[in-house]
Amino acid sequence: MARPVVLVVDDDAGVRESFRLTLEDHYDVVDVPDGLRALDAVRASQVDLVLLDIRLPEMDGIEVLERIKAIDEGIEVVLVTAVRTVRTAVAAMKLGAFDYLTKPFEEDELLAVIARALEKRALEREVTFLRGELARARDFDEIVGHHPAMQKVYHLVAQVARTTTTVLITGESGTGKELVARAIHRQGPRRDKPFVAVNPAAVAESLIESELFGHERGAFTGANQRKLGRFELAQGGTLFLDEIATLKGELQVKLLRVLQEREIERVGGTHPIKIDVRVVAATNADLKDAVARGAFREDLYYRLNVVSIDVPPLAQRADDIPLLVQHFVHRYSRECNKPVDELSPEILTALREYGWPGNVRELQNVIERAVVLAEGPVIQLSDLPLDVLLPKHREKVRTADHLPLKNATEEFERQIVLRVLERVGGNQSEAARILGLHRNTINRIVGRSKTS
Ligand SMILES: Nc1ncnc2c1ncn2[C@@H]1O[C@H](COP(=O)(O)OP(=O)(O)OP(=O)(O)O)[C@@H](O)[C@H]1O
Ligand SMILES: [Mg+2]
Repeated sequence: MARPVVLVVDDDAGVRESFRLTLEDHYDVVDVPDGLRALDAVRASQVDLVLLDIRLPEMDGIEVLERIKAIDEGIEVVLVTAVRTVRTAVAAMKLGAFDYLTKPFEEDELLAVIARALEKRALEREVTFLRGELARARDFDEIVGHHPAMQKVYHLVAQVARTTTTVLITGESGTGKELVARAIHRQGPRRDKPFVAVNPAAVAESLIESELFGHERGAFTGANQRKLGRFELAQGGTLFLDEIATLKGELQVKLLRVLQEREIERVGGTHPIKIDVRVVAATNADLKDAVARGAFREDLYYRLNVVSIDVPPLAQRADDIPLLVQHFVHRYSRECNKPVDELSPEILTALREYGWPGNVRELQNVIERAVVLAEGPVIQLSDLPLDVLLPKHREKVRTADHLPLKNATEEFERQIVLRVLERVGGNQSEAARILGLHRNTINRIVGRSKTS
């Protein structure tokens, strides 16, 4: 793992030298004699911590502190002060200094304060990520399925988790590729480090490079602050490159170089930065075919595809459907706080016969919807969207044969409106536009109870 970089700012060459001697066993040390050069160093390279003398020629330490924080708030600054400037140092804590050392100090004291500051920095990076993780954790804990094709996946995950080998996960949309990537991370020695996902297809093309590799302040219009890229945020952990086939030519070259050299360069940066990151990529497109068409670089393909894990489509493991259904019913009944825990017997048959083009994600959505719509503890066929039911099951839908025509028609309308709402992510105005109805009508139809 790359060593932290400590920047020493002091106008006395002797002092700089003694800092260097004390620190260089543990850290990479850069030293400069004044504030302007300190700012240059912060802009030019990856500095984790600054040891800053308060009394400096030209620009004083306090101003340097403020300007470092403006470049990158995450850099920790420890002030070095003489007794007579202690009050200034205390005041500087409000400007974001981590702590101060009063001269003369012991070597141990110095090492201890640096260690604490760096620990805080590492923690802050992780907290940011864990917050995001936590919000998603519930969705991503467990891979459900006993089918032999899934057993094979589990076996491969266990094997690669121990290594740092690059892995390519293939499979149709919604099969659980991201879940598998997280399992690789969680089962490996990097589990306590960040898992960082990035999907180039979800980022504006002009920003992908900065998203991956970060940028320096002023690298382009709007880059007002240094920003760390996903690679750096994943330092020590795993980077998940989703939908890798969407990466364009020039970025493919850059990614290849990063994987080979194990170092990145921020946009607008002047120095390479070492990275220690395990890469897991995923694709639902046929990458081999993309290589044949000339849309994806062959050398990058081989770099990524050291080990590949193919996640099977749901239709090929229909035996897992009951388990998955149970899993999702349990999750959503808990989440919606509704005591739904049974399925009418036709449901599992119906679900097993459907083709599941959207795979597990589609099944998950169908069950979530059914739990929301269910009126008692038992999910009925009529709680499923009509298009997952084959014609013979559709006929069994309660509304069609047990209700007076008026109610059946209303229920049919309601199903259609719900489908459209689903497709447009719940946007009522959009659904109204598609269906040629007024928004209020949509509201009324959706609000209709099934049996009324
Ligand atoms: N085997 C499984 N057990 C439990 N949940 C699963 C399983 N497979 C997928 N899911 C759930 O289905 C949803 C889709 O999974 P995921 O995002 O991992 O799919 P994906 O293959 O990355 O899809 P895409 O290609 O569309 O990004 C997630 O909410 C995930 O939790
Ligand atoms: Mg995905």
